[in-house]
Amino acid sequence: MSEYNDGLQAAGARLLRRRVLPGTPDGNTPLWPPAQFGLDAVPLYAQAGADLQREVLDRCAQGLLRESWLIERGGMEFCARMVLASEDAPQRALYSLIGADEAAHYAWLQPWLPQLPASDPFNDFLDHCVRTAAPQPLAYLLQVVLEGFGVVHYAGLAAACCDTVLAATLRRMAEDEALHHAAGLAVFDCRRLSKADNNFLFDASYTFLQMMRSGPQRVVAALDVALGGVESGALTNLFDTLETQRPSADKLARLRRLMSQPGMENLVEALAQRQAFVPATPQEAAQIYRSLR
Ligand SMILES: [Fe+2]
Ligand SMILES: [Fe+2]
Repeated sequence: MSEYNDGLQAAGARLLRRRVLPGTPDGNTPLWPPAQFGLDAVPLYAQAGADLQREVLDRCAQGLLRESWLIERGGMEFCARMVLASEDAPQRALYSLIGADEAAHYAWLQPWLPQLPASDPFNDFLDHCVRTAAPQPLAYLLQVVLEGFGVVHYAGLAAACCDTVLAATLRRMAEDEALHHAAGLAVFDCRRLSKADNNFLFDASYTFLQMMRSGPQRVVAALDVALGGVESGALTNLFDTLETQRPSADKLARLRRLMSQPGMENLVEALAQRQAFVPATPQEAAQIYRSLR
């Protein structure tokens, strides 16, 4: 088995050498500053010692990188599915090329992850979508919406990143995601959505937005673990402080714009009626955190 793994790794590494991004992590400086996570406004963080502050920052950074790595891994599965479901050779070539990009993104992030995660709830959700949905709703949800979201997300992470190699990697990923998003717009045709596809899109988009509206759960978890437990009564205040710059509201507004493709007005309207684009209140976010703690 290990000979098999060694063989796979060596063959993959030879292919990746053709798409190399130079550099490795040095591990000496935090990857992002406190403001990236809203920590600069949190008294609990300001009062912690330098070592604990560094631990909180590292936990927040690892949370971001783990999430991205899992999404890139999911992107490979999505492309594999779309290659098999393609209707013609040009479409198959398109998804093969995108899949190769996702495999490179997945490999590029790996050196920054001391421990590779098995999965997370968002990854499980993506996996379920890729396995159960038809190609057209997948092109809409994963390429038009999620990869479109990834363009601004990765560009923002790159702009604020303190590590020049990781910043260059994330910038390159943002450029690639813009091309993937454009490919999704070329493939997606709302007239081809069946009733079942539309039902799937409502349920899956609603679930996706519920995850996005729950606030900075990972930042709270980083503070909670590193500082030895945030009191339950202080959680609401903490979510309120972290949302001072309204990061969740901005993300949901961006998702709404991406979802608002011609012909998709009914979906967006139905989601808006269910308050799917409204961020959780600090009380709700704290409740979600307690239920998962
Ligand atoms: Fe990617
Ligand atoms: Fe992508």
